[in-house]
Amino acid sequence: MPEAPAKPPEVSQPAVIYFAKSGKEINCDGQQFILDIAEREGVNIPSSCRSGTCGTCKQKLLEGEVKYEGEPEALEDSDREQGLILTCISHPVGRVAIDA
Ligand code: FES
Repeated sequence: MPEAPAKPPEVSQPAVIYFAKSGKEINCDGQQFILDIAEREGVNIPSSCRSGTCGTCKQKLLEGEVKYEGEPEALEDSDREQGLILTCISHPVGRVAIDA
């Protein structure tokens, strides 16, 4: 009996991003940044540093959870309380809805 193929070390998690203002729902693998997916899909999110320091790409997370790659330095406590995220360094976890 053949052995089952070994699983790849990093199994990407399927994710869905719903851009509420644009009315677009995008299936993705959770590995890409939300900003990159928005740009690819023609959803307008302004950006500048693309490294979490300037805050230009802040958007409101309406639903779900994101995972950051690096420190979201441009997020103040008040931003977090309002549910803002930095789309340039965040990945969707499961299903998320963004106000863009
Ligand atoms: S583009 Fe600067 S924090 Fe995202």
